[in-house]
Parts: sequence; C-alpha cells; structure tokens
Amino acid sequence: MKVVITKDYNEMSAKAFEIMKEVVTANPCAVLGLATGSTPIGLYKEMIRDHKENGTSYKSIRAVNLDEYKGLDITSDQSYVYFMRENLFNHIDIDLANTHIENGKAEDAEAECARYNAFLANNVQDIQVLGIGSNGHIAFNEPGTSFDSVTHIVDLAESTIKDNSRLFKSIDEVPRQAFTMGLKNIMDAKKIIVLANGENKAKAVFGLVKGEITENVPASILQNHPDCTLICDEAAAKLIAEA
Ligand code: PGA
Repeated sequence: MKVVITKDYNEMSAKAFEIMKEVVTANPCAVLGLATGSTPIGLYKEMIRDHKENGTSYKSIRAVNLDEYKGLDITSDQSYVYFMRENLFNHIDIDLANTHIENGKAEDAEAECARYNAFLANNVQDIQVLGIGSNGHIAFNEPGTSFDSVTHIVDLAESTIKDNSRLFKSIDEVPRQAFTMGLKNIMDAKKIIVLANGENKAKAVFGLVKGEITENVPASILQNHPDCTLICDEAAAKLIAEA
C-alpha cells in the first residue's frame, strides 16, 4: 500500500483530488465509487471548485455509492443519497440517473442487495474512495465481516452508532441497520484511495497499514489490493509513523 502523509485535512483533500482528477480526465465515462461521512467532504469541495473553475465535466461519469441506512431515502436529510446530492451531485454536471446507491426503503431487502451486486458486476469502480471507521470498518463492513462479502444488510456496531450520532438530533434516531457493499465489491475496484484524518483514526490506520490481515479489522484486507493509496494527515498517521 502506498502511504501519503499530509500536514492537515486540506492537504489530504487536495492530494485525493489530484488522483480523482487523473481518473476522470483519463476516462470521461469512468465509474467513481464514492463514500459519505465527514472525511471526503473536502475532496468533494475540490471537485466542485475544479468543475466550476476549469469545466471538468461529469456528464458521462457514473457514480456508485458504498452504503445507505436501512429505512431512509431521499426524503430524509440523514440519508446518504441526500448527502451525496447536497455535498457533490447538485454542484457538478453529473446526470442523477447515473448516480447509484442502495435503496434504503426497498421492501425486499434481499432482492435489493442482489440488484446492487448485479449492477456492480457490470459497473466496476475505476476508483473507489473510502473513509475508515474508528473501529477499522470500511463502508459499513463492521469487524467480523467476511472478506468474501458482497452487498448485504448489517447491524451497525455500537461504536458506529455512537460515532454517527453526532449527525443526528439524538442517538435514538440513528438507524440500527444499513445496506453496504461488501468487502469483495470494494476489493474489485481497480484503484482505491483511503482517506483518514484526526487522532481518533490513528489506531484504525495502524490496523489498515501495519496490522495483521484479519476480518477483525475489515480495512486490513486493503493490504492485499494491488493499487491502494492511503492519504492521511499527521494526526491519523501518529501510530504508523512511530512504528
Ligand atoms: P467519517 O466516517 O468520515 O465521518 O469519519 C468514516 C467511516 O465511518 O467510514
């Protein structure tokens, strides 16, 4: 795994944007695997700035998102489909018909997982953006998830519910389940960039880069990916820099 340590969040976002822009420029029909959460917002701001300043076009780009809360859809401002539109899609020229995410309100959840897996098989990510949970999760693949997993429904870990409660009015409003791409769907991406900032990610970053490859630390599987780059700030790199 390639490791890029930056001095702060803004530099992390700028480095991530450099890689994203290379992919979009090389292939205007690229499939972008995108993530929600606080971490990639700076990258999305850079993409919006560049689109407005330089006219970089996303007209033929396809986007696939990692995960969605079960029970939420575009009518909820906590849903990930809403997040993506607010933080990126509404500010670039992407066709919303080319943006894909699990339907959190699907009546038949198993059928929805099967639909998404079939879709991903025909739309392999040219690049996948990832954040990392403080417990080492990627997407909503919590510790213990099989490395062979594909899109499935998960019970969120208590630590994830607590981490994400900052974005809800109260912890009771955080959904307990979500749809998520599995670890195999993520590993299928041609290129992966993992972003991490802040000291609360230092332990997870250590597990990602230097820990044992184990299902107890889902991100550790990325050590086996042929083209994965971690971009993290100095605080998140604290334990890998010391080791
Ligand atoms: P965050 O979430 O970007 O909000 O820290 C990352 C994650 O849980 O994957």
